[in-house]
Amino acid sequence: MEKTIAVLRGDGIGPEIVGEALKVLDKVAEKFGHTFHYNNVDIGGCSIDKYGVPITDENMAVCKNADSVLLGAVGGPKWDSCPANIRPEKALLAVRKELGLFANLRPTKLFPQLASASPLKPEVVGNGIDLLIVRELTGGIYFGPRTTEEVNGEKVATDTMPYSEHEIERIGRVAFETARKRNKKLASVDKANVLDTSRLWRATMHKLAEEYSDVEYSDILVDNTAMQLIKNPGQFDVLVTENMFGDILSDEASMLTGSIGMMPSASLSSGTCGMYEPIHGSAPDIAGQDKANPLGTILSAAMMLRYSFGMAQEADAIENAVQQVLNEGYRTGDIMQPGCTLLGCVAMGDQVVAHL
Ligand code: IPM
Ligand code: MG
Repeated sequence: MEKTIAVLRGDGIGPEIVGEALKVLDKVAEKFGHTFHYNNVDIGGCSIDKYGVPITDENMAVCKNADSVLLGAVGGPKWDSCPANIRPEKALLAVRKELGLFANLRPTKLFPQLASASPLKPEVVGNGIDLLIVRELTGGIYFGPRTTEEVNGEKVATDTMPYSEHEIERIGRVAFETARKRNKKLASVDKANVLDTSRLWRATMHKLAEEYSDVEYSDILVDNTAMQLIKNPGQFDVLVTENMFGDILSDEASMLTGSIGMMPSASLSSGTCGMYEPIHGSAPDIAGQDKANPLGTILSAAMMLRYSFGMAQEADAIENAVQQVLNEGYRTGDIMQPGCTLLGCVAMGDQVVAHL
């Protein structure tokens, strides 16, 4: 197969971790007889420095025309004082919206080799953690109208959280379909005791639950979910929720594994194009020092092969290679354990390639 990938290295450690993922993709291409074309796109702070905007229209078009998008990370203290409309994060939201990437899949898996990195007690972790958050990504408070105005001599700021039935239904379908492919268990997270959007969310999910009667469905309030994730994470399989709740809960969930550097994500549209990125940030404190963990990005590339290109065997090969590298005791600094071998970002990428 021949595929074109828009490559968005971004800021901080972004270029380093994406470089390793491309090495892995090249090896997969060689081994399985595929051709991957990479189109480089500046995004975030590096684009602000070059063009004065976090992403240019031309570069957005490159993303739209690609078969898929691979992203490192954007942002850093250098651009923290930029005005709201040209912040690095703005580009990320724009790509999500322009490409229609409404379904964000964020798996949280405790690698058995890294179990001691979890901040939870072994008896709480139990048989491990393997859950998937399905986060709505192009609606809600992230994209609703917002204003800051002067009222009675003081500033008043307002953000709004609109959701329409079709937006809820389409993310709900992704969640139910995903649950079907896993353990047929879905919890829908909302704040229906307070918010109208959550009441519509819940009613829409209930209609879908009738259609997907083979999936064990439950409602759970977002504050309780935050608590249950710490108390008994093993009770969850697939969770579906709106944009901002999903942002918060997915950070919480990823920390249960103690190794945020390992976690990939996929943002999917109704077609096959998706954007794939590690869930961690640009880590400016270690940028350019060959210390970053490239495995989250490498596993994101595996998700790209699986979800956008239908290359299940190739994705399995990458995931198995990562498992083997961990089994052999290779670690980057963030997941280092006594008795293991410390590797830099490049050497870790090399190890994954060598195991393919
Ligand atoms: C994420 C990030 C983004 C978000 C930021 C960088 C805008 O936190 O992908 O979770 O809030 O969606
Ligand atoms: Mg976030």
